[in-house]
Amino acid sequence: MRAALLLPLTLLIAACDRAPTVNFQDASITPPDDPNELPDGPGRDVVLENCTACHSPSTMLQQPKVSREKWESIIGKMRKLYKAPVDDAAAAQVVDYMVAIQSDVSHEAPR
Ligand code: HEC
Repeated sequence: MRAALLLPLTLLIAACDRAPTVNFQDASITPPDDPNELPDGPGRDVVLENCTACHSPSTMLQQPKVSREKWESIIGKMRKLYKAPVDDAAAAQVVDYMVAIQSDVSHEAPR
């Protein structure tokens, strides 16, 4: 019984011995650009009211350009899966806004 414990214990001690020394003194973190300002446009207030309780605008702004149908499905997911309290009228305005502000994004989402 003792012998059975001895080997794993020896291996554990050996592993601890080889653990690298981590020096945090020089560590620095540069956060990525976080676009948090929603551009002006019709529906901006509706988006601020309905979409920023759970995540910051950057979650919405850092999406690849996607179709209107895809935005409808994303917002449907927010409502059904994540229980976002967004009524039909607000959801339609959010879709319009997201499609409009994405018009200057040049790349398409991969299919
Ligand atoms: C009840 C909380 C909640 C609300 C309100 C909410 N979301 Fe989300 N949203 C989430 C969660 C949770 C995620 C997933 C985050 C993750 O996994 O990184 C998410 C992710 C997203 C994403 C990332 C892409 C994706 O499909 O996951 C987008 C875009 C997005 N939300 C847009 C919106 C918009 C637009 C609204 C307003 C209609 C909204 N959200 C309101 C909870 C919410």
